[in-house]
This record gives sequence, C-alpha cells and structure tokens, in this order.
Amino acid sequence: MSSRTLLTAGITGVGMDFPERRLTNADLEKMVETDDDWILERTGIRERRLVEPGVPASHHGAAAARKAMAHAQVQPADVDLIVVPTVTPDMMFPATACVIQDLLGCKRAWGFDVSAACSGFIFALQAARAQVETGACRCALVIGTEVMSSIIDYTDRNVCVLFGDGAGAVVVQPVSADRGGIVDYRGYVDGAGGRFLNMLAGGSLHPASHETVDKKMHYVHQEGREVFKFAVKGMAAITTEVLERNGLGAGDVSLFVPHQANIRIIESVRERLGLRPDQVAVTIDRFGNTTSASIPSALRVALDEGRLKRGDAVVLCSFGAGFTWGATLLRWTTD
Ligand code: UT7
Repeated sequence: MSSRTLLTAGITGVGMDFPERRLTNADLEKMVETDDDWILERTGIRERRLVEPGVPASHHGAAAARKAMAHAQVQPADVDLIVVPTVTPDMMFPATACVIQDLLGCKRAWGFDVSAACSGFIFALQAARAQVETGACRCALVIGTEVMSSIIDYTDRNVCVLFGDGAGAVVVQPVSADRGGIVDYRGYVDGAGGRFLNMLAGGSLHPASHETVDKKMHYVHQEGREVFKFAVKGMAAITTEVLERNGLGAGDVSLFVPHQANIRIIESVRERLGLRPDQVAVTIDRFGNTTSASIPSALRVALDEGRLKRGDAVVLCSFGAGFTWGATLLRWTTD
C-alpha cells in the first residue's frame, strides 16, 4: 500500500458582493404588522440587502468570487474546482457552479452545488479542503450566494424580516504549514429537524403546481422558536468539541465567526462558550440572515476591519435547515 502525504489547505482570498438596494425595518413596517423595536430587539437586524428584480444568485456569486480571486492573486485559468453552497440556485439544474464557471471563464474547472442551507458554506469548504489536501485540486473557489428574497413571503412577518440577499466567496489553495491553514472540521446532520425549517415545493415530493403556489409552498417555512433552541445547543456543542480535541480553550480563539441568524443566538452561544464580545464577528445588523453567504462575508468584513492576522485561531460555526451544523477550526493565512 502506498502512503500519501496530505497537503495543508488554507483560505488565500476572500471576497463579498452585496446588492445596493436596502430593505430597512422602517420599510418592513409598511409591509407587515411589525416594528423596528421588535425586529432589532428579537433579531439584531437593522437592514438587509435585496437584489434588483430578476437578478439570480450567480450574479453576486460571480462578483464575490472575482474579488476573492483578486485577493488571492489567482486567474480564472488557475481554478480547478468551484463549489457553490446555496438554497437559491439560479434554477433546479444545471448547477449554479456551472453558471458561475462560465461567467468567470474558469475553463479548467469542475464543480457542483451543495445543499446544506445555512451550513452550506462550512460543508462546501470541507469538500474543497479535502480536494486540495489530497492534491486532487490546486485551487478551489467556495462561493456562498443567495437570493433569499426569491423564496420569502413578504406578507409573513415571522420570516420576511429575517433574510437578505448577497454573496461571499473564498479561494482555497495548498499553503505551507508555517502559513497556517485549515486545522479541523466537524459536521452533523439530523434529518428529524427538517420539519421545523424548509421550503416544501419545487422538488420531486411536491412538484410545482397551481396548488403548491396557492398554498404558498414555494416559500420558506420556519418554526423559529424550535430552530432557535437547537441552534444554540448545536453550535455551542460542536465548537466545544472541535476546540477540545485540538487542545484549545475559549481564550485561544482570536475570532469566532458564527452563522448570522439572530443576535440572540450568537449571544447565547458566545456566553455558553465563555467568549468575550470582541472575539465574535457580527454582521447581522447590516445584512440580516444571508444563509450560505453569511460566514464568508463576515470573514471579509473582519478582514476589512483589521480583525484577522496571519496565525490567528479562527472558528467558523453554523446551524441551519436539515438540521445541519458544522464547525471549522483554522489558522488564518492571509493579510
Ligand atoms: O438560519 C437558519 C436557522 N434559523 C434560525 O436560527 C432562526 C431561529 N429563530 C429565531 O431567530 C427566532 O425564533 C425568530 C426571530 C424567528 C422569532 O423570535 P422569537 O423571539 O422566537 O419569537 P416567536 O416566534 O416566539 O414570536 C413571539 C411573538 C409572537 O406573538 P405572540 O404569539 O406572542 O402574540 C409572534 O407572532 O412575536 C410575534 N412576531 C412578531 N412581532 C412583530 C413574530 N414575528 C414578528 C415580527 N414583528 N416580525
């Protein structure tokens, strides 16, 4: 049997791209029975971005990828894998990864979409990491991109205040061990949680019909209180698991980057883990919940704010529909 040495995979570029159009809490007050105080206190969201009508997920996804590639100084011809986590693909098929490959002109790349909702970015990053570590790929793009506004019922106040559109992307490449890189990952799914957060129609179980449209089955359905409880427990437990098995404690974490679903979830997880507020990335106030785009865009914001430097211990953590949850531990690789 031949033994192979694994390379170390690291994030070498980060980009994000958001639509200009803002939907504020004041705008929502005119659309449903809600108010700024409730939204801000219960979710931490002040505004979210929405695409112009007709703009698909590939558009901002490709733009975010271009910025990540510029950061990493890679060309389209260097890219040999494109992984796109999304719950709002341009269409059922072909994959949005294929659409973005064409937009970017990455002629050597193969790729696929990942369906893991708010954990999509973390699961997709692990897929890219594995390809890079084994040497099967030299340069991967992981692009979380969402047009959540395409699956939101803007008459349902339980859901419409929460979500926003946008994209975040990273480049994953082999890095020399002294530059850090991805250290560890853990993911879980629990299909029994599927009933609490879903979009039921449009697949083979409930193909699109007049009836599915009339019953609003092409919109996000969420039992928020249930999801909230599982999210806090799951995110705190999986982060503890990953830190402990690497001999790290809360004090060793330079930046904790949680999925941005609700400021109260982020705060509860932070308290359970014993992290200080300055160790945690928060962008939910300006973007709302952007599903697979929330973690890569929060990384870009942290970089822009000078909160990440080479060698820092960073933990990415998510919870989403499925249920799905995951955590990635890395040593930061870029400036
Ligand atoms: O990203 C994927 C994972 N998703 C999540 O992690 C989301 C998890 N869940 C949550 O973030 C929260 O549960 C929500 C933000 C969705 C809801 O907050 P909550 O504190 O759990 O509220 P609730 O659903 O228990 O509702 C409390 C009250 C209800 O009124 P009654 O029944 O007490 O009279 C709701 O009807 O708040 C009402 N309500 C609203 N009021 C004003 C619900 N939405 C609104 C609203 N404006 N937009």
